[in-house]
Amino acid sequence: MPPFHIKFMPEDRIIDVEDGTSLLEAAAKAEIFIKSGCGGKGTCGACKVVVLSGDPLVTGTGNLTPEQISKGVRLACQTLIQGDMTIEVPPESRLQEHQVLMGDVHKGILQESKHDLLERFGHHPLATKLRISLSVPTLTENTSDWARLNMELRRVLKAEDKPIHIPLSVLKHLPESLRKANWDVSVTLTEIDSGFTVTRVEPGNDHPPYGLAIDIGTTTVVVYLINLLTGEIEEQQGSYNKQAKYGDDVISRIVYAVENEEHLLGIQHAVVDTINELIDKIIARKSISNLDISSAIVAGNTTMTQLFLGVDPRYIRLEPYIPTMTSVPSVPAREIGLHMIPEALVHCYPSVASYVGGDIVAGTLVTDLANGEDIILFIDIGTNGEIVLGNQDWLVTCACSAGPSFEGGGITFGMRAMPGAIERVIIDSETLDVSLKVINNLPPVGICGSGLVDCMAKLLGAGIIDRAGNFQLAHHSGSERIRATPDDKEFVLAWAHQSGGKKDVVITENDVKNVIRAKGAIYAGIRSLLNMVAVDIEMISRIVIAGGFGNYLNVHDSVQIGLLPDLDTDRFEFIGNSSVKGARLALLSQNAWREAEELGRKMTYVELSVGATFMDEYVSALFLPHTDLSLFPSCQ
Ligand code: FES
Repeated sequence: MPPFHIKFMPEDRIIDVEDGTSLLEAAAKAEIFIKSGCGGKGTCGACKVVVLSGDPLVTGTGNLTPEQISKGVRLACQTLIQGDMTIEVPPESRLQEHQVLMGDVHKGILQESKHDLLERFGHHPLATKLRISLSVPTLTENTSDWARLNMELRRVLKAEDKPIHIPLSVLKHLPESLRKANWDVSVTLTEIDSGFTVTRVEPGNDHPPYGLAIDIGTTTVVVYLINLLTGEIEEQQGSYNKQAKYGDDVISRIVYAVENEEHLLGIQHAVVDTINELIDKIIARKSISNLDISSAIVAGNTTMTQLFLGVDPRYIRLEPYIPTMTSVPSVPAREIGLHMIPEALVHCYPSVASYVGGDIVAGTLVTDLANGEDIILFIDIGTNGEIVLGNQDWLVTCACSAGPSFEGGGITFGMRAMPGAIERVIIDSETLDVSLKVINNLPPVGICGSGLVDCMAKLLGAGIIDRAGNFQLAHHSGSERIRATPDDKEFVLAWAHQSGGKKDVVITENDVKNVIRAKGAIYAGIRSLLNMVAVDIEMISRIVIAGGFGNYLNVHDSVQIGLLPDLDTDRFEFIGNSSVKGARLALLSQNAWREAEELGRKMTYVELSVGATFMDEYVSALFLPHTDLSLFPSCQ
């Protein structure tokens, strides 16, 4: 059967797909990323599309209403193609405009980290490239090609003790490589503790060697191209993780991956494809070759790391939550299929536990947390709030499930930080008039995590909610903005005529309670770690906040609602995408990479579900800012 033409609107993009392909897969093939919270099981309802023409096979309609169905709305994951079609993908079903956190992209309220630790660790990259001129063999000077090269490399590298390996794939081409280059060659080598490995021999040139720092996030992937000679970031690209079509979060990805070998392979290929596309864009922009890329370091959470390597992640989600490995073997790029020198090594950051991964170890390295007497708190806020506390003598870490509220999940008008999202809220406590700051200055369509924190603080400040998050309708009966609905109570942030979706954008009492639970989990995680090591909050000298949401956070409002500890604002610091920064640092410094591996071993993981401490702290934190106001003196 010939492939069918599927047109996606409003892009007007046409692709060809085979009979029986789901619309969700077809959309991914067309580079249109559709939300898929349940990983294509037909239960979450996130993947709604509108069939404008065509006659697909519908295998399920989930919770679609008869009215939606009559208007052509279908679940993309439950709709199979059996002929030509035209599909509209509505904005609310799309992933593609989410801001990819490239690094120091946003000048936050407080300063970004200015720490570049390369000076301290020393610039000594994991891969190097040498220009080597060899003597031409003769009848009397007739050592083998490899012995001749090996001897010269040993002399230049001053590597008396360390072995120099050459893989068979490079050895096979060595005779021609040397002779074609007239014995003037450039040799790329990887250096790790056990010795050097020759990864490429090419005609002599002075092009610099490059490395890749890669952050694999559950939602987005970021790749930096690093000049290994200068340490400069010469190019950077980011995009959605193509695994998104298998589910929005790590749990749905694991559930999909462990169904069978084919799924595991498919989900591995999805992330490798994502990275390769970013690499291809980078090399096209820089006019360099894939074969100029001589090493890569990957930082990601434990599930992302295992899926990148194709390692079965099933036990990560089953009690007692055991990852396959914490220290990860380095593998040649050809084994993964990355577009770089095939024999070049790809290194993955070690993880600490199933829910504290290499991205957190990378963040811990770049915060320089383990290198002084001062006690530092590092927080990465996402669906999981990962927290590290410590100094040069001790390090403790935990992960607390904050839920998806700060990423827009479970909130009536919640959305990720993308154009049209409310990120700042001001409420006049007399009139209840509202001023909003919206990303890209568009009419508002929803509210993102930092907007929610702002909004909560302002609702509390204006007396619209009490400390338990209950709406105070009786106190504001004169205002149209605060109202009761059949199921809930709500406050209108933007009226329909002002909003991008042409409907009132509201925050409900239920939304407020969800945010309180999310912030309560993070604060309880912080307190649990502090209790465990008997450290008082005042003893923390620096609080470093990483992650997409953290980067846009208003510290004052975060303290007012009890998300962050009540300390002077000058102790807070935003570090942006600490995962990719940690990957860059380790790529450029053998010492940094050794310390990263050491950090992974040194961190003590605290399982919060064991014992009553976390639950007690959590219950106490379900107030704004807290049941114990002595912890928040500036809020009294
Ligand atoms: Fe289609 Fe969840 S309903 S992905």
